[in-house]
Amino acid sequence: MAKQNPEPAKIARLRRQLLEWYSRNRRDLPWRRNPDPYSIWVSEIMLQQTRVAVVVDRYQIFLARFPTLVSLAQAPEQDVLALWSGLGYYRRARMLHKAANFVANQLGGNLPASSEALRMLPGIGAYTAAAIASIAHGEVIAVVDGNVERVLCRLEGWSAGSRANGTALKHKIEDLAAQLVDSVHPGDFNQALMELGATVCLPRNPQCLMCPVAGDCKTKGEHKTALRPRMQSCEVAHALSVRTGRQPNRSGREVLLEQRPASLTVMPGLWELPVLKSAAVPAKKLRMTVRHAIMQVNYYVRIRTVSEDDAEAMTVAAGERRWVSITEAGGMALTGLARKVLTRAHLLAGAPRDAIAPEPAGDVL
Ligand code: ADE
Repeated sequence: MAKQNPEPAKIARLRRQLLEWYSRNRRDLPWRRNPDPYSIWVSEIMLQQTRVAVVVDRYQIFLARFPTLVSLAQAPEQDVLALWSGLGYYRRARMLHKAANFVANQLGGNLPASSEALRMLPGIGAYTAAAIASIAHGEVIAVVDGNVERVLCRLEGWSAGSRANGTALKHKIEDLAAQLVDSVHPGDFNQALMELGATVCLPRNPQCLMCPVAGDCKTKGEHKTALRPRMQSCEVAHALSVRTGRQPNRSGREVLLEQRPASLTVMPGLWELPVLKSAAVPAKKLRMTVRHAIMQVNYYVRIRTVSEDDAEAMTVAAGERRWVSITEAGGMALTGLARKVLTRAHLLAGAPRDAIAPEPAGDVL
């Protein structure tokens, strides 16, 4: 595909309009109050595949516990994973931790400043490197995420089209982004484009009347975005076993958890509720049904309460098992599903402790 060269006057106008709009409309997000490279790095990793509203909370808790790169590097991996709970995609947390270790041990704790050097670190690709370098250090480099792709495609009237033209289109978008990025305020410019995609140029209902660059837009809401891939579905069942604590000095409740083996490629080392041998749970025994999406799969999960005596016979033993006090469980590296179930069962997050009745009717939550 031929390279597009918007005329200089249009480029200057787009930059000015976007920067002005951003200065008036930017959301007050915690990572924008403290643009140090480590905090920007954490926020950008969290923001990949996770909604801003979820990240805001988790980011503040994470930074309160790991305020510096060195404090993160020195923490045990299980502590880092535990604080990542709720954000999903734990591989990002493992890579962040690994990279922090590398920087602390090999680079004297100094996170590289250039996008080129940042890309050498584990878990930092073109997007994250450009975001950190432009926002924290003013490097003139464009950031292209899904939101930016959509904004630029609509602006130019480029159709997402088929897979066959995917790579060529990606190059055209990257080219255009590189031409547009403002050389004086690259970090703000990049954030302005991402912000516009996240709040105005929405996938399904673009708010064209609020758009600062509608005058230059070739599509003005007429543009369709690529369809999402179809979700697959899968059924599984887990056991919720709760008993009264046995530890001396501890009378609280304990839940049976199992650690996923380190050899697994999906969520290794995380703690989950034991898997039931049979996914067919009789209606009378069903505690709740939970839908849980991971990547392109919708899991329909049946949860049944299982007594301590039945736990071994009814579940598949796949990893180390422990009875864990509810207080301790809350601080562990739980899978997102385990946290969701324990929360909905009112065992976690300050809910009434006795909300688990023995085998009540199942709720579809
Ligand atoms: N999405 C990811 N990072 C962002 C940022 N810094 N500003 C706006 N949206 C984003």
